[in-house]
Amino acid sequence: MESIQAVKGMNDILPGQVEWWQKVETTAREVLENFGYREIRTPVLEKLELFSRGIGESTDIVEKEMYAFEDRRGEWLALRPEATASVVRAYIQHNLQADFTMQKLYALGPMFRRERPQKGRYRQFHQIDVEAFGVDDPMLDAEMMYMLRVFLERIGLSGVVLHINSLGCPQCRQEHKVRLQGYLETHQETLCPDCRKRRHTNPLRTFDCKVERCQKVLEKAPHLLGSICEPCGTHFERVKDHMEQLRTPYLINPRMVRGLDYYTRTAFEVITDQLGAQNAVGGGGRYNGLAQDLGGPDIPGIGFAIGMERLILLLQQQQEEARRMPKIFLAAMGERARTHAFLLTQELRAAGLETEMDYEGKSLKSQMRRADKYGVSHVLILGEEEMDKGVAKLRNMAGKSQQEIPLEDLPAAMKNL
Ligand code: HAM
Repeated sequence: MESIQAVKGMNDILPGQVEWWQKVETTAREVLENFGYREIRTPVLEKLELFSRGIGESTDIVEKEMYAFEDRRGEWLALRPEATASVVRAYIQHNLQADFTMQKLYALGPMFRRERPQKGRYRQFHQIDVEAFGVDDPMLDAEMMYMLRVFLERIGLSGVVLHINSLGCPQCRQEHKVRLQGYLETHQETLCPDCRKRRHTNPLRTFDCKVERCQKVLEKAPHLLGSICEPCGTHFERVKDHMEQLRTPYLINPRMVRGLDYYTRTAFEVITDQLGAQNAVGGGGRYNGLAQDLGGPDIPGIGFAIGMERLILLLQQQQEEARRMPKIFLAAMGERARTHAFLLTQELRAAGLETEMDYEGKSLKSQMRRADKYGVSHVLILGEEEMDKGVAKLRNMAGKSQQEIPLEDLPAAMKNL
């Protein structure tokens, strides 16, 4: 019988890989909580309307990429393609602003988009999603990008660039839209069929088009940053000032538009040149109208999300190992030594050291092979001879060096590794 495979574009994360995920998640929690963010968990399944209204009807995500279906009672549902709309929904639904208008929240978990799978692009992928509500001050925009930088530094990622832009407000965007439509009109023969449609429905989205001839046309297209209104301009200036105070480098990229419609003013992306076509490790921005668009109060918001698969792919290219914690294997021969090793294993575990032993009475050679396969940093060897002498041999697997340690000193010596 043919074996059943996972759904295309949806991956298992196996032991050996999962350590990277744990490292990223732990570091994310540490940094975010240090900046005052608290975790929120929302369902992966939501009403379809949440995303079509929140993200925008004429975005690729809503038009082409959602896993949406009618359930048995005829209700339209969708697997979340992102977390922002869900977190905003939860904020409104649970009246979190009554507690404190300012809320800093984060969510970790899987998102679903039916894109064509390739390196760094999957149909189930994971995000570290961060959202802050209730503050319109540019200080928060800068702090958020600074925090993103702190996180990436803490995790040890290098070679990424922070791109920033302003996407204005509904007023200045409307004026720009008319101008952009005019420009696209004069080049419509060159545009791909999708962009010819976008010209009417959502002209800003043409900036996202990957077709080369469209890109050529857009090189000379008027961009929004050149025509944002005065309040939006002042906001952007202040964001940049705060970024300089925080010594956080950035690049102004007037062509960056983001793939979701809810953004206002500040937008940003972390870009790499080490992942091929999928060059965004994370992105986000301000979304001052979203809570109101979703039927809630007029409360500003800003956030970003990091793609965990992309972050981990980059980390694996740049770093050798996810963990450098000591990992110990006890290789014991003979009944007396095995009993001693069994108890010592539990003692080392209780002291917080990751420890494994052989339970099968295999030969020393076979036990050493197993230790190597586990990728342990140290092996403790206990045989009859060692038991007679009252010692154990400690082998450092990296340096291949070996030393004898008295049995009674073992727990303390191991804790000092
Ligand atoms: P986004 O730019 O659509 O923004 O996604 C954020 C990140 O998720 C991307 O930069 C990328 O690393 C990762 N990502 C997106 N799609 C895929 C995929 N198919 N496979 C692997 N990784 C992917 C948002 O989702 C916004 N909700 C971010 C945000 C939060 N804005 C405000 N608050």
